[in-house]
Amino acid sequence: MPQAWYNKQFGIKKLTTETGAGQWGSALAFACQLVGLECKVYMVRISFDQKPFRKLMMQVWGANCVASPSNETNAGRKILAEFPDTPGSLGIAISEAIEAAVTDTTGQTRYSLGSVLNHVLLHQSIIGLEAKAQLKSAGEKLPDVVVGCAGGGSNFAGIAMPFTLDKINGAKIDIIPVEPTACPKMTRGKFAYDYGDIACMTPLMAMHTLGHAFVPAPIHAGGLRYHGMAPLVCQCVVEGLHTPQSIDQMECYEAAMTWAKTEGFICAPETSHAIAGVIRQAKQAKEEGKEKVIVFSYSGHGLMDLMGYDAYMSGKLKPYYLPEEEIIKSEACLAGHPQAPARKSGKW
Ligand SMILES: Cc1ncc(COP(=O)(O)O)c(C=O)c1O
Repeated sequence: MPQAWYNKQFGIKKLTTETGAGQWGSALAFACQLVGLECKVYMVRISFDQKPFRKLMMQVWGANCVASPSNETNAGRKILAEFPDTPGSLGIAISEAIEAAVTDTTGQTRYSLGSVLNHVLLHQSIIGLEAKAQLKSAGEKLPDVVVGCAGGGSNFAGIAMPFTLDKINGAKIDIIPVEPTACPKMTRGKFAYDYGDIACMTPLMAMHTLGHAFVPAPIHAGGLRYHGMAPLVCQCVVEGLHTPQSIDQMECYEAAMTWAKTEGFICAPETSHAIAGVIRQAKQAKEEGKEKVIVFSYSGHGLMDLMGYDAYMSGKLKPYYLPEEEIIKSEACLAGHPQAPARKSGKW
């Protein structure tokens, strides 16, 4: 909503964007509808095929949604010529959305990013501020643990950053971003200057990355299939303020099933990573005989993702741990990039 609103104030007529799972694309489509902007969404091919209803949702709010890579941009055509069966990636969809904005000759189109950048994280920090208000109303001061799933880092940073300030000021809080073992940028990637997209159209960012050319395996958690991570979150990882974990999709679906059976809600496959992280923490606290307050971000519902649940329940899903040789191959595109300075400024 803020991105759409500020663009409208600036005299812009149309926004282009990428979407993985489709939640951001749906959100921006709705926001554009509210303020009267056109909206064009490049949705990662594999998610586009896995959840066709997302496209219809975006259409309800007046947006035009196409599968990425598409034939509409040079970046998309180049990838399709080389890899016609590619599942796509957020890095590819971002390239297409940027290209569509910068090549629009009217000058009235802008690109809008749904995660990673500082302003997106700032907008999302309302999540952590509201969580603090909820804790207060429940009679709790601060949590012992904060967990969120992390694709580009926006929902995680949204819940984590207000509590990160408490940690900097001396509170003892474990703050844990959870990523899939299929896309382990924080736990196994390099901390380097890298591009946010495959066609290298974004500025270089100091972040944990598997390399901008990395195309993750087509896991159901489409929103976590991103090669990089928000630079603010990465700096917190470097500083030891955030301690990332990677969890395999089988443990995540098991956690999602437990959650559905006990709480009655069906969570998104991305959110299941946060829930799996929470269950690990709760079990550990039990083993240690400690009572802990654990807060997490419930980033989305999974009612568009039931095919993933079907695959899990019918035994079609397998564990996926990204092989080391894939990482070495995908990080080759970082050759010649300046090394990011892994400077620690404090002790937390
Ligand atoms: C439900 C859900 N959670 C989390 C994410 C990950 O994005 P981010 O790391 O920006 O919060 C997505 C992205 O599509 C999503 O759909």
